[in-house]
Amino acid sequence: MFSKELTILVAICCCSVVLAEYTSYEGHKVYDIKAENPSQQQLLQQLANNKAYDFFTLPRVLGLSTRVLVAPAVQAEFEATLNSSQVTYEIINENFGETVNTERAENNFYRSLRAKAQRSISFSAYQRFAQIDAYLDELATAYPMRVTLQTIGKTYEERNMRTITISNGDGKPNKKVILLDAGIHAREWIAPAGALYVIQQLVENFAANAHLLENYDWVILPVVNPDGYEYSHTRTRMWRKTRKPVTTHCAGTDGNRNFDFHWGEIGASSSSCADVFMGVTAFSEPETKALRDLMLSLSGRAKFYLTLHSYGNYLLYPWGYTDQLPSN
Ligand SMILES: *[C@@H]1O[C@H](CO)[C@@H](O)[C@H](O)[C@H]1NC(C)=O
Ligand SMILES: [Zn+2]
Repeated sequence: MFSKELTILVAICCCSVVLAEYTSYEGHKVYDIKAENPSQQQLLQQLANNKAYDFFTLPRVLGLSTRVLVAPAVQAEFEATLNSSQVTYEIINENFGETVNTERAENNFYRSLRAKAQRSISFSAYQRFAQIDAYLDELATAYPMRVTLQTIGKTYEERNMRTITISNGDGKPNKKVILLDAGIHAREWIAPAGALYVIQQLVENFAANAHLLENYDWVILPVVNPDGYEYSHTRTRMWRKTRKPVTTHCAGTDGNRNFDFHWGEIGASSSSCADVFMGVTAFSEPETKALRDLMLSLSGRAKFYLTLHSYGNYLLYPWGYTDQLPSN
């Protein structure tokens, strides 16, 4: 019943969005690959350096499978390379283009259902940046004693980067701070959605969560990279980076490789077209600069920093450049 409705809706939507220039993933396949030994692992690491292959996670840990998106033109070559090293794989998505189109149609459908809802957002669809921003304003208006907004900078495309600070309204100054952000990687849509859910729970479900605000104020930046986030909605679903041009034919820097701490040492690329491009300099991006300055403004108060990503089902803790754990 529902799927029939959706099919009709998809048909209608197709007519109206036919002019939008979405990147087509028609015929792209997703491979699930697991290295069985160190030499296979090494092969995967080499393949991950080839920007023709989009590794959803970097093959860092032997025994964990990794998923790779591969365009039709290079599938035979990719498979032949794996086959020649006896690396086994499973194709878990035969046509990623269809997946992306279905996701877009479902998102449009669920967003249209939300129109009558009280607030700008719901949790049944991935929200566009404007709705996320409007939701922050709604909360600030509805809960002025517990919510404040702050503009911490502007993106390359001049979108405002805004944090929401949530307190319990007891008026005690300079509490310790929990800093949470999401969406530094544009395509990881569930991350901003997760941050929004935290915001919604702390603000609108305060009674149930008051204990989380007793000793801490929360500072949350739900979308670190709104330019990239919007681009992943309107053009290229798998866009990861910021949007500032680097050369005439490649744009964007991996914000999560752009911090001035062991910059460019590991898991980063100096090739401007790569998805893990580290930037021309550390902190080359207005977005990472703004996040850095926010952190510096909280030094002494911030006791915990959590940055939300997908994909991979990992809980990662510092450091990024080494397996060693920090002393504290
Ligand atoms: C690689 O091996 C698989 C499984 O045996 C086979 O289906 C596929 O056609 C091979 N691909 C190439 C390009 O040799
Ligand atoms: Zn990420």
